[in-house]
Amino acid sequence: MKKLILKGGDFRTELENITPMKQQKKKFHRLLPRPFLVLAPMYEVTDSAFRQIIAARGAPDIFVTEFVSADALVHPEASRKVAHLLAFDERERFRILPDGSREREAFLQAQIFGADPATMAAAAGICAEWGFDGVDINMGCPEKNIQKQGSGAALIRTPERALEILRAVREGAGGLTVSVKTRIGYLREEIDTWLPAILEGKPDILTVHLRTKKEMSLVPAHWEWAERIVAWRDRVSPRTLLVGNGDIVDLEDAEEKIARYGLDGAMLGRAVFGNPWLFARRKKEPSWEEKVRTLSEHTALFARLYTGVRNFAVMKRHFAAYLRGFAGAKKLRGDLMTVSSAPEAIAKLEEFLRKSLVEEEE
Ligand SMILES: Cc1cc2nc3c(=O)[nH]c(=O)nc-3n(C[C@H](O)[C@H](O)[C@H](O)COP(=O)(O)O)c2cc1C
Repeated sequence: MKKLILKGGDFRTELENITPMKQQKKKFHRLLPRPFLVLAPMYEVTDSAFRQIIAARGAPDIFVTEFVSADALVHPEASRKVAHLLAFDERERFRILPDGSREREAFLQAQIFGADPATMAAAAGICAEWGFDGVDINMGCPEKNIQKQGSGAALIRTPERALEILRAVREGAGGLTVSVKTRIGYLREEIDTWLPAILEGKPDILTVHLRTKKEMSLVPAHWEWAERIVAWRDRVSPRTLLVGNGDIVDLEDAEEKIARYGLDGAMLGRAVFGNPWLFARRKKEPSWEEKVRTLSEHTALFARLYTGVRNFAVMKRHFAAYLRGFAGAKKLRGDLMTVSSAPEAIAKLEEFLRKSLVEEEE
């Protein structure tokens, strides 16, 4: 287990398998393939359990953790409550070969949010010490209580502060890759002001979700403006890798958009709901049996990592997403919505498997 030393003391997480074996010392973004694919950070979705399930089937080039508050991370008491958000397992980024050696599969970034440069720098230092390959700064979250503190999408309105934070995080991260994830504007599209402003800070990677803060996720992403963003990158910070995000449905769609707009990479979010095979480049759709078995494995892993740490209700979004498109899925989904523990859920999934396999044989 990893012992994390914090200013006000130290603590151990209850989580297993957190010991980083090999930290990427250099900036990892220079080692990325082109184009490259990123799994979007999604709070209460892309936790370590789901990332491990995905990695075992086909990893993206970069995983990003759920966002974590820098204020909480540097606080001796509060950090205990958020440490689970930074839990990861080495199997997310390495394939473990039969002889025990490791082969790099993906890079792992921690995503932090905050409004105070010094706190953000300290939080970035903790992420580096924790063993992450890089740090991503959230400058796009539209949630009110995140913005209230001046962080997330609120930084779009305070570009000077955003730049200060970027510089501070770079300092705090001690040479690791530092990226920014943002949107195209606050109340309206501000591509010609906000994007050159943040590019002045020369982030190693800039991910742009092609919607404004106001648009949340309510309108289609504005891919029609992607080329304008690429032009700003070329002019202001040609070495920054540019990643497009918003409504990408699969790898084919991602690769088509990357090629069409001249991006370096693409980030996929909701397309992974119920589909940990998203990055696997499989020819065949997963069968109903594979879906149910995978969900059962996912539930067991969630319970092993997070029992007593995270609310089991987090799994319900996954139940709803995996269990679609096969006979009996709707009823099974309904049954699972009423359970309140992993063993109960797994029992229902196993029972469904048993019954359906018997029916198939008959
Ligand atoms: C449930 C959920 C949680 C999210 N949590 C985060 C987060 O923690 N940090 C972040 O930068 N974006 C977060 N996002 C936004 C996604 O990373 C992504 O930008 C957005 O979903 C658009 O991409 P998509 O259309 O491929 O899903 C979240 C989105 C969803 C749906």
